[in-house]
Amino acid sequence: MSEHAPVGIDPTVPSVARMYDYYLGGKDNFASDRAAAEQFIQVVPGIREMARSNRAFLSRVVELLAAEGVRQFLDIGSGLPTRENVHQIAHRTAPDAQVVYVDNDPIVLVHGRALLADNPRTRVVQADMREPEDLLANEEIEDVVDFDRPVAVLLVSMLHFVSDDAVVERVTTAFRERLAPGSYLVITHAFEGDVSAEVQEAGQRVYRSTTTGSITSRGPKDLAELVAGMEVLEPGIVPVQAWRPGEDEDEVAVDFTLPGILGVVART
Ligand SMILES: C[S@@+](CC[C@H](N)C(=O)[O-])C[C@H]1O[C@@H](n2cnc3c(N)ncnc32)[C@H](O)[C@@H]1O
Repeated sequence: MSEHAPVGIDPTVPSVARMYDYYLGGKDNFASDRAAAEQFIQVVPGIREMARSNRAFLSRVVELLAAEGVRQFLDIGSGLPTRENVHQIAHRTAPDAQVVYVDNDPIVLVHGRALLADNPRTRVVQADMREPEDLLANEEIEDVVDFDRPVAVLLVSMLHFVSDDAVVERVTTAFRERLAPGSYLVITHAFEGDVSAEVQEAGQRVYRSTTTGSITSRGPKDLAELVAGMEVLEPGIVPVQAWRPGEDEDEVAVDFTLPGILGVVART
C-alpha cells in the first residue's frame, strides 16, 4: 500500500488487521505494521504459517457450510480483503449466498467497499463486536441477514483481541441465544500452549502497541464454554490445521503443548 493513509486512518499505530495482512504476504500495510509484525515474528516464528492455516480452515469450513445449505454468512472481524474471501468461497458452491463483513477498523471498510462495490450479495459494515446487541439490531446487517433463518457467524481469529472474558462470553451468548436452528458459530482463537511466561509477555508487549491494545490466549476448555449447549462438529476443538485437513494437506497430530490457533465449528 502507498504510505499515504486514507483520511481517518492513523498509519503510525500498528493495526492488527494490517499486521495480519503482512503475515499473509499482503501489501495493505504501513511501516509501523511491518515493524510490529516483524517483532512478533521474532517471538512467534511460526505466526505466518499459523495465519495461512487459519485462512485454510476458514475456507474449508465455509465450503462445508455452503454445501450443508447455509446461505447467510456473517464474518465478524473479517480483516482486509485477501486472496480468497468468504463470499468468493461461498459463491462457488452457493452463488445466492449473502455475505456480510463486519469490522471495526476503518481501513477494512475502505478496502472492503472498493472490492465489493458491485457485488449485490455482499456488504461491508463498520461495527464493534463487543456490542453484540447492536450488531444483531444493525439495520445494514438486517437488510441482508435474516436471523430467523440459518446463518453462519464467523468469529475467526479475533476474540483474542478482547482481554475481558466476560465480554467474550457476552458476545458468544448473544449469538447462541439469537441464532435460528441450523445456524453455526465458527470460532478460531490464539492459544499459547506451553510457551514460557517470558515469551508470552514478549508477544503481549507487541500487541499492547496496536489498535486493539492486547492479545489474550484461551484454551480448549475456554472455547468449549463459548459454544456450550451447541453441537460441536467433529473433530472438536483442535488446532486449525488438524480440523478436517483437505486432501492436499497432511494429517496433523493434535498437540496442545504447542502454541497455535484453535478452531471450533458448532451448530445450534
Ligand atoms: C487477525 S484479523 C482476522 C481476519 C479474518 N477473520 C481471518 O481470520 O482471516 C482480526 C480482525 O478483527 C478485527 N477486530 C478486532 N477487534 C474487533 C472488534 N471489537 N470488533 C470488530 N472487529 C474487530 C480487526 O480489525 C481485524 O481486522
